[in-house]
Amino acid sequence: MNKLDVMNNSFNIKPFAPNLGAIITNVDLSNDINDAELKVIRDAFHKYQVLFFQNQSEILPENHIKFGKYFGDLHIHPAAPKMKNYPEIFEIHTNKNSKISNGAEDFHSDVSCDMEPPLGTMLQLHILPECGGDTMFANMYMAYESLSKPMQKFLSGLRAFHESEHFYKGRYNKIDENIKYPSALHPVVRTHPVTKKKALYVNRFFTTQIEGLSQHESKLILNYLFEHCEKTDFQIRYRWKQNDMAFWDNRCTLHKAIWDYFPNERKGRRVTIKGDKPF
Ligand code: SIN
Repeated sequence: MNKLDVMNNSFNIKPFAPNLGAIITNVDLSNDINDAELKVIRDAFHKYQVLFFQNQSEILPENHIKFGKYFGDLHIHPAAPKMKNYPEIFEIHTNKNSKISNGAEDFHSDVSCDMEPPLGTMLQLHILPECGGDTMFANMYMAYESLSKPMQKFLSGLRAFHESEHFYKGRYNKIDENIKYPSALHPVVRTHPVTKKKALYVNRFFTTQIEGLSQHESKLILNYLFEHCEKTDFQIRYRWKQNDMAFWDNRCTLHKAIWDYFPNERKGRRVTIKGDKPF
């Protein structure tokens, strides 16, 4: 266990698995976070890519927003329903009336279709099924690093379109012709702006075509990359406890929520933090 003492507080930070993630205890996210504590959390975020804050109580929407803002301005989801009075909050809710999952049933990086996709997402779950409803995360540094050198060379310099209309239109609400669905062109291999490490940046939800390749070539390469990103060696599977808060880095991970608990209920709130244009 790596125990980091910060001012009067002591956080316990323990790796979740060798390939990804850490569990943080001894911090109450409803309280203010000082600069030294923030540095510990930031450093852990960059090192472990996904943090799971355990032993929390339910965080009020305003405190959730406040915690998110320590890491940057908040991103407003282009299509999902907003919580009343809190447009920054995306309510995650599935129950016996749900016809589809909460929109996370395949590995993806949140809203990668934005020109400046969110750097990270913070999700706290308040209602959980008795079992099931786990979330899986995959390490995209490992996905990149495990490719052969010729494949890394082939992919470097390529860009791919990330689109959203096919995915968002009618998913959360009745079809609304006023919604402008984002799309963007991003590098297939991106460099993390803080760690400077390279990560694969494609996902099944949003990445539709590699620029400059024929449709057939692009489809084959993308399918290969999607499968590669989803190798179990790069993954962890997180079993939630009530009020756990997960904070993941969308620049170097993918995630997927498993919808195996229908018709039971799963409910929580998430905020996302604005990111930069991938390079
Ligand atoms: C999401 O993609 O933000 C949802 C993840 C989850 O419900 O576990």
